[in-house]
Amino acid sequence: MAKPVTTFVCSACGATHKKWAGRCDACGEWNAITEEAPLSQGPAGKGLGAAKGARVALSDLRTEEAAPPRHSSQMNELDRVLGGGLVPASATLVGGDPGIGKSTLLLQAAASFARAGLKVIYVSGEEATAQVRMRAQRLGLADSAVLLAAETNLRDILTTLEAEAPDLAIIDSVQTMWLDTVDSAPGSVSQVRAAAHELTTFAKRRGTAVMLVGHVTKEGQIAGPRVVEHMVDTVLYFEGERGHQFRILRSVKNRFGPADEIGVFEMTGAGLSEVANPSALFLSDREKPSPGSVVFAGIEGTRPVLVEVQALVAPSSLSQPRRAVVGWDGGRLSMILAVLEARAGITFQGLDVYLNIAGGMRINEPAADLAVAAALLSAREDAALPHDTVVFGELSLSGALRPVSQAENRLKEAMKLGFSTAIAPAGCKISQNSGVTVQSMEDLPSFVGEVFGA
Ligand code: TYD
Ligand code: MG
Repeated sequence: MAKPVTTFVCSACGATHKKWAGRCDACGEWNAITEEAPLSQGPAGKGLGAAKGARVALSDLRTEEAAPPRHSSQMNELDRVLGGGLVPASATLVGGDPGIGKSTLLLQAAASFARAGLKVIYVSGEEATAQVRMRAQRLGLADSAVLLAAETNLRDILTTLEAEAPDLAIIDSVQTMWLDTVDSAPGSVSQVRAAAHELTTFAKRRGTAVMLVGHVTKEGQIAGPRVVEHMVDTVLYFEGERGHQFRILRSVKNRFGPADEIGVFEMTGAGLSEVANPSALFLSDREKPSPGSVVFAGIEGTRPVLVEVQALVAPSSLSQPRRAVVGWDGGRLSMILAVLEARAGITFQGLDVYLNIAGGMRINEPAADLAVAAALLSAREDAALPHDTVVFGELSLSGALRPVSQAENRLKEAMKLGFSTAIAPAGCKISQNSGVTVQSMEDLPSFVGEVFGA
């Protein structure tokens, strides 16, 4: 048998390499490649056995098997992100930066599921049970029926789970778990993958829903949550800016519901509280019309959310002016600046450009293009847009404005929050009586002409 060769694995994305390198070719991360012992190959020399495993025609499945009932967490924001509740026998990964509030969220969710009658086990590999209890006390959940365990040995955990057969098991975090059959340190890519594999297999076999916590790590010693994303059914990321109290739970993959759905929470002294109307929250700091500030009517998953796009443009003292972005894609900003220059003749040469999405929100929608362009123009011309106006639309490289999806939902949300005018691409499907006056624009030059009189 060939001698097993060690491989080099990127702890950020899980890509394997033949040689060590400073930078991972696959994801571009620096100093993330570590040496790993190979996984055991299994017994050699055996051919394929006779096919095993029952087959069943799709049409023979009973309804409850085909669409299992979901467990509601009694937390609307969490249920929405899960696609309508927790699916039994599913595996969910909850990733996020250390300290963002994952343990808090899951402890609150655990207590909430327990209150709804589920048997819940919360396994902490990072804190002692007394510490978890202290946290529960702070959250006002000390008398909850959740079972606690402080353990990192996965074999012991699986034995407990087999014996208890809970409806939900929470593992906080998967990076602290270790299997004695895997020959590398806890937190390494092989350990994290093996632990996630054991736990997801357990979930499928015993019908227990499993939620795994995964820290996003900056240094290469500990594997990031991305290395197990492909093994689980649902991947949620808990995001937020430090210094902001808002936290956004976002589904980036969901086998049982729409991806890109968000739930909004606020971190308070007594844990996370749900934010039912995020638009009001994200816009709450807006006072009077100010240059560079534009309200974008966005859609996150199935929900319309209004957010403020802020731009600042100032003369630069640098030979290469600054382009700084928070909450949006830097490449997309460069594109908008290029389109403004090429199609509308408005240059940002010699100017520093700063773009910020207010409230610690992150936007991925191309529909924000026009709002970004409007904020940049408004900042450059020092002219504020009317206070009661929302903007949305995708910008193509030709300078044409492309219609975006769910225009009516965006308008409805705008009306609900007291906006009376919307600037939108011509060609959006909009019924007459949306309650908001729509100014339809064909392309960027006509938008610039009409709004900024240039
Ligand atoms: P935690 O859930 O421990 O984060 P994670 O598990 O993602 O590492 O949250 C830690 C932060 O949350 C910490 O900085 C304190 C803050 N926090 C509150 O503000 N209020 C609370 O009620 C709790 C429990 C934590
Ligand atoms: Mg934690």
